[in-house]
Amino acid sequence: MTINEIRTKYLAFFEKRGHTIIPSAPIVPQNDPTTLFTGSGMQPLITYLLGAPHPKGNRLVNSQKSFRAEDIEEVGDNRHTTFFEMLGNWSLGDYFKKEQLPFFFEFLTSEIGLDPKNLYVTAFIGDEKNNVPQDTESAGIWKELFGSKGIDAEIVAIGSEADGYRLGMQGGRIFYYEARKNWWSRAGVPENMPTGEPGGPDSEVFYDFGTPHNPAFGAECHPNCDCGRFLEIGNSVFMEYVKMPDKSFALLPQKNVDFGGGLERIAAAAQGNPDVFAIDVFTDIIGLLIHFSGKEYTDSRYQRSFRIVADHVRAAVFMLVDGVRPSNTERGYVLRRLLRRAAQHAQKLGVEHGEGKNSMLVKCAVNFIEKYKQAYTELGSEDVYQMISDEIWKEEKQFAHTLEAGMREFEKVAKAGHISSDDAFVLFTTYGFPFEMTLEIAHERGIDVDEDGFATAMKKHRELSRAGSEQKFKGGLADTSEKTTRLHTAHHLLLKALQMVLGPTVKQRGSNITQERLRIDFSHGAKMTKEQIAEVEKIVNEKIREELPMIRSTLPKDEAEKLGAEHEFGAKYPDMVSVYSLGPISATVDDPQFDKAFSIEFCGGPHVSNTSELQGPSTGSGQAPFKIQKEEAVAAGIRRIKAVLQ
Ligand code: SER
Repeated sequence: MTINEIRTKYLAFFEKRGHTIIPSAPIVPQNDPTTLFTGSGMQPLITYLLGAPHPKGNRLVNSQKSFRAEDIEEVGDNRHTTFFEMLGNWSLGDYFKKEQLPFFFEFLTSEIGLDPKNLYVTAFIGDEKNNVPQDTESAGIWKELFGSKGIDAEIVAIGSEADGYRLGMQGGRIFYYEARKNWWSRAGVPENMPTGEPGGPDSEVFYDFGTPHNPAFGAECHPNCDCGRFLEIGNSVFMEYVKMPDKSFALLPQKNVDFGGGLERIAAAAQGNPDVFAIDVFTDIIGLLIHFSGKEYTDSRYQRSFRIVADHVRAAVFMLVDGVRPSNTERGYVLRRLLRRAAQHAQKLGVEHGEGKNSMLVKCAVNFIEKYKQAYTELGSEDVYQMISDEIWKEEKQFAHTLEAGMREFEKVAKAGHISSDDAFVLFTTYGFPFEMTLEIAHERGIDVDEDGFATAMKKHRELSRAGSEQKFKGGLADTSEKTTRLHTAHHLLLKALQMVLGPTVKQRGSNITQERLRIDFSHGAKMTKEQIAEVEKIVNEKIREELPMIRSTLPKDEAEKLGAEHEFGAKYPDMVSVYSLGPISATVDDPQFDKAFSIEFCGGPHVSNTSELQGPSTGSGQAPFKIQKEEAVAAGIRRIKAVLQ
């Protein structure tokens, strides 16, 4: 079964069950500066999971283009890819466990034709500390579902992954695991979730390929074992909890289902081959690479490189079509890294090197475009085809120059018979020579590399460059004491409140913050009335009580401007800016339900992480901490406010 067939079947299956098919959101999040890439189908839907009504109803289904940068290093084994399609179905306060689990079971067994004997499932063991009970309901539903196929499914308790390696299968088919395995939120386990974040217990389905257990991973095999016997193919999250400011968990106003299934992995299960690179979308590309390199895919010296080229080029195609271009920052840097790693591994395979349209990477990209353009019509135009080919070739050419210069430097330093951390660091930061290549070539020649020293140098480098960029941002505070930090956040609330009360023409014209008070100068033509001042104070205090999260992100200046981020009139900003947003931002911009942050500002920080911190120790819960002390004129059309947090 091809992935196009599986995707079509999935969408049709859920459409028949009352779901509306929604398009995949772009791989570049539209209005969520908290993350560089869309990494799951639920991400663009967060406001709806929190309760906003979705214009398309409360049963949704799609296949979402997803990218997980954290998996780059993992690519090369038989299951990890950076880009993948996540099949998703959602119930926004509609159906719950007893519909969701049978839906997915029926889809896998009847539509895809998987033998239920090869399916194993997990459920949440419960968490006393957070008052979340064991998910006996899901376990019971699974027992019945397997029973309907004549399988007597035993329920066994495992706990942690380590327990799994100790206890093994125990004749079970339904397994209870702890939160690390069977709880899902964007932030992971309950303890890591920020206030206001939704999450819940989940139930995963694993496909058993029947390969022998590899004890290198642990004594006994169990569904969450990483030896390769089991592959997770789908996850039903029962998203009914939200984290409260006192760190407890409350029920959301609605019980949601957030299902995500790996399309490529389901395809691998459908053909009974645990290698996701053996599915139809990859086989032609790997065939091309075999043809042009003369190497065998099954050759263990090269298999990793085949997979890396195939994975990285596919991810690059989807990034390029959604507007990412190779650069040295943020998303552009990730794309550059993908293309350069792909080029490096194509070189390792020894593929014949063509130019322009004949470059190996461009040939692979064109093949992917052909495979995906029906499902993702944005790939279908001649312009896009041209752009993708050009961008990839441009990057390859540039990388080739970089490598030449880097190689010359490498030869120089390698004469010492040892590559010091300083040498490796200079090769990487000054010459753009990938550390991986330094390692590889050094190993081939039997030369030592100071890997730990390089890692330490890189860590220091990252910290320094972060501090450096904060200095550059206008509004960065020299004084980072707790008092000024709290006032700084109050300053953002105040600017927004002024705009709400006096109108959007209010712009910041200057500011100054000490430990005692904040001061803001802003454009406004008249003295504020007592009522206006009271109204502004009321809004700020309300927002403090609402305990809004403060989220920092770094983005290109024009993107921040598009988000409507406030900046000081006349100030100059670098190409990459730090942006602080207060309150939830999510969904897509052109969506009528778009739930904007309360305030977004270009700002170097620092800030508190939640406005609840402005309440301070001396103010009881009922008291209003924010107070305007003075409102006066400083120049024609410019007013000044001094305010404090009591
Ligand atoms: N959000 C869940 C996941 O990413 C299910 O869609 O696994």
